[in-house]
Amino acid sequence: MSRIRVGNSSFAATRFWNIVCLARGRCERNDAVPVEWMKRAPFRPMTAQHGAPRKDFMPLTARYAAAQQVALKAGELARDLFAKRDSLIVEHKGAQNFVSRADRAIEDFIASKLAAAFPGDAFLGEESAASFAGVPEHVWVVDPIDGTHNFLRGLRYYCVSIAYVELGRTEVGVVYDPEHHEMFHARRGEGAWRRHAGDQRRIAVSDCKALKDALVAIGHHDRFVEPRYLALRHALMDAGAATRNLGAGALQLAHVAAGRLDGFVELSLNAWDALAGLLLVEEAGGHVAPFPGPERWRDPAPVLGCTRGIAGALESMVGAW
Ligand code: IPD
Ligand code: CA
Ligand code: CA
Repeated sequence: MSRIRVGNSSFAATRFWNIVCLARGRCERNDAVPVEWMKRAPFRPMTAQHGAPRKDFMPLTARYAAAQQVALKAGELARDLFAKRDSLIVEHKGAQNFVSRADRAIEDFIASKLAAAFPGDAFLGEESAASFAGVPEHVWVVDPIDGTHNFLRGLRYYCVSIAYVELGRTEVGVVYDPEHHEMFHARRGEGAWRRHAGDQRRIAVSDCKALKDALVAIGHHDRFVEPRYLALRHALMDAGAATRNLGAGALQLAHVAAGRLDGFVELSLNAWDALAGLLLVEEAGGHVAPFPGPERWRDPAPVLGCTRGIAGALESMVGAW
């Protein structure tokens, strides 16, 4: 297929590809449905630097567009439910660990939209994780509301997080903040982007080079006492860093990618909290510590995303990699 260029030519190429598929009698649903996603999806600009399209260009492009579109719709649903949060029945999954009808409704919405568009793909969502089995080649990893505690308390710092992982590698990451109408999105190799009010720009991590100048978020759950967080905060304070915990791991990673934070660390996070945000940081030119692949997604793992300038100091402080 010919090179894909900016603007409507990408739509033309998509339709062309679809017609070719139909003509060859091998247009699966995967090929047909995403064209609809792509017509509606707001695209990031593509430039010569992106090089020639990969062999699998169409399916990944369709998934990238779908991830943004579904995150946007899921975010609208979250915003509606946020306004009605006082009427939501809240269940305790454990100490300081909550879930409500909102989390489940949004996850069901995302799962059904993705299953309709990509019926062969697997789905790992926080609220249905118990039924996830195996190590599939194509899998969506989703947190319907990251920052549930904030959401339920009326704090406008939560997001929808959607990652698409192929053969164990995260290819697409989308984090949508519905309260501020900010969409952070990345496709591997094509940079990280922020879209807001019709404006789309490439984002980059800050140029912070030393912990003494850094603003670092230390995410932590509050489910049991974890003295390592106290030690980490102490070490960061000793190094002169400012620290925060804003309560939504995926959004804090997106904010590292956008240069608003210089780093984010959490000692124990699940794949649905981490994968989309880690790709954003990577594509924004930052450093990410290795996160386990699908065969180890049953267990939470340490997460780090930060500028390259503070990576060495932060990694040795955490001591997990
Ligand atoms: C939580 C948030 C929080 C982090 C916890 C996560 P949830 O996810 O990301 O910032 O510290 O470890 O479990 O429960 O709001 O989806
Ligand atoms: Ca989460
Ligand atoms: Ca969640």
